[in-house]
Amino acid sequence: MELLVVDACVRGEISGTRKLLTAYLKARYPLVQPHVLRLKDEGLLPLQEEDVQKKDALLAAGDYDHPMLRHARLLRDAREIVVAAPYWDWSFPSLLKVYIEHCCAVGLTIAYEGERHYGLCKARRMTYLSTCGGPIEGGHLGEQYLRFMAGVFGIPEFQAYHIENLDLVPARREELLQAGIRRIIQP
Ligand SMILES: Cc1cc2nc3c(=O)[nH]c(=O)nc-3n(C[C@H](O)[C@H](O)[C@H](O)COP(=O)(O)O)c2cc1C
Repeated sequence: MELLVVDACVRGEISGTRKLLTAYLKARYPLVQPHVLRLKDEGLLPLQEEDVQKKDALLAAGDYDHPMLRHARLLRDAREIVVAAPYWDWSFPSLLKVYIEHCCAVGLTIAYEGERHYGLCKARRMTYLSTCGGPIEGGHLGEQYLRFMAGVFGIPEFQAYHIENLDLVPARREELLQAGIRRIIQP
């Protein structure tokens, strides 16, 4: 699998971030058939204590084909990753955090050598796309977190694009969104 698309656009078809994602994929990867994960449809739940124990046991046994480790496997094997998520509460929807929780798997996506950790993912780049209702006020915590996690997973390049201020004048939202999309996908 070459291109993994992680779609955390909770509002589905009406999502501006989904529109940005669709335009971005068409412009940057016109010939690629990506593997798209619509997180809404993935049945992801926060890990409870028993889930953590089970996950750790599977990883300790090297049972990497288990369905519980599917997202970690997909992330490890992708050659390129595009993540799309709206700007929620200065960050992103918790659904994306739950997804990352499932992807953090020692032995599959992350490894330890003493106290040092390094990433096992094969992707050369992660791209993060988001749209925001207002200004990001000096720092997009969602971008910062994903940038850090790309490093944890061993993905050397991280790039992020966001469109701000979409909700300030509701009547102009679509116009500003389309202008932002044009700015981002321009060659
Ligand atoms: C639950 C929720 C939280 C939000 N939090 C913020 C925020 O902290 N800052 C901001 O500028 N906009 C915030 N917004 C507005 C969204 O970022 C904005 O409408 C964005 O374009 C939504 O993307 P979507 O159309 O892909 O769902 C929030 C919207 C929702 C629904």
